[in-house]
Amino acid sequence: MSSVLRSAVTGVGGYLPDEVVTNDDLAKVVDTSDEWIRERTGIRVRRRAAPDQAVSDLAVEAARQALAAAGRTPEEVDLIVVATTTPDLTFPAAATIVQRKLGCPVGVAFDVQAVCSGFVYALSVADGFVARGRAKCALVIGAETMTRLMDWTDRGTCVLFGDGAGAVVLEPVEGQGTTADRGLLGFALRADGTKQDLLYVDGGPSTNGEVGKLRMQGNQVFRHAVVNISEAVTAAAADAGISVAEVDWFVPHQANMRILEGVARRLGIDEAKVITTVADHANTSAASIPLALATGVADGRVKRGDLLLLEAMGGGLTWGACVLRF
Ligand code: UT7
Repeated sequence: MSSVLRSAVTGVGGYLPDEVVTNDDLAKVVDTSDEWIRERTGIRVRRRAAPDQAVSDLAVEAARQALAAAGRTPEEVDLIVVATTTPDLTFPAAATIVQRKLGCPVGVAFDVQAVCSGFVYALSVADGFVARGRAKCALVIGAETMTRLMDWTDRGTCVLFGDGAGAVVLEPVEGQGTTADRGLLGFALRADGTKQDLLYVDGGPSTNGEVGKLRMQGNQVFRHAVVNISEAVTAAAADAGISVAEVDWFVPHQANMRILEGVARRLGIDEAKVITTVADHANTSAASIPLALATGVADGRVKRGDLLLLEAMGGGLTWGACVLRF
């Protein structure tokens, strides 16, 4: 076997803003109930960023934790990729603001916009740097303030989302080109722009000049989710050369407990192997996978050497999956 460079996750971090918003809190704003939200989504609570917290502030907190876990300093970071749909400003990229706030003196910094699939897309982009020897210490961050995009009169969407950030440090490691290697092993990324109307924001700099509000035909998105995600999971496993049955932990995007259960059922995955945070975080878009990973690492479930499968679907539509050995 020949030696190959792999991108290994060497540190993980997560940050949730302080304010907890319960289902009962939302029942005072729109015609909904704790019972409906729990039954249809599995969500109990979500977090909301403080008015003076921008997405870069959330990202910096998660990044600091990830760097500490990896034993790295901001001075060593040479690539920052932020997956976000809710940047501080239309430009510059949130990643360059994170670079300044963290105090990273050198390197490349930019954002990836693939909505809820953003973290999986961003990992793939960062892999293109790290596994080619073009970055030695990369921060890949999913950070969102989705509550800022809510129409607080639309009960079909405003109860579903929350704010937060998660981050990983990626570093090059030598592998043997086998599935036993540590690092990112396989991907499947997908997009279907014809489904834009199912999930989008009705504003933007080159249309109406407004930030806009999130619009979703939830039950239509739901219909696509289980099928699309299952296909991407199977394709990412094939790309990595593993079988889905070998996976130790599934770390999915957290949109709805019923989607997670549906995907697990369709693929024959034991639900005990699925890391779920949707009850406490709700849907934090691009932040949800690294936040779930941070949760699994912090509570001791995810250990070095475990085989992980990450998956997501979101606006675009975009979707995808990634296999990595932790
Ligand atoms: O991360 C990006 C991807 N996003 C997703 O994956 C979200 C996917 N979709 C979903 O999670 C689910 O479709 C929802 C949770 C959004 C909705 O669940 P559903 O079982 O598909 O319900 P529905 O949209 O078919 O609506 C059923 C009923 C409707 O009332 P009628 O028309 O049957 O009288 C809705 O008006 O539930 C009503 N409803 C609500 N009732 C109380 C919708 N939202 C609420 C609410 N509280 N918050």
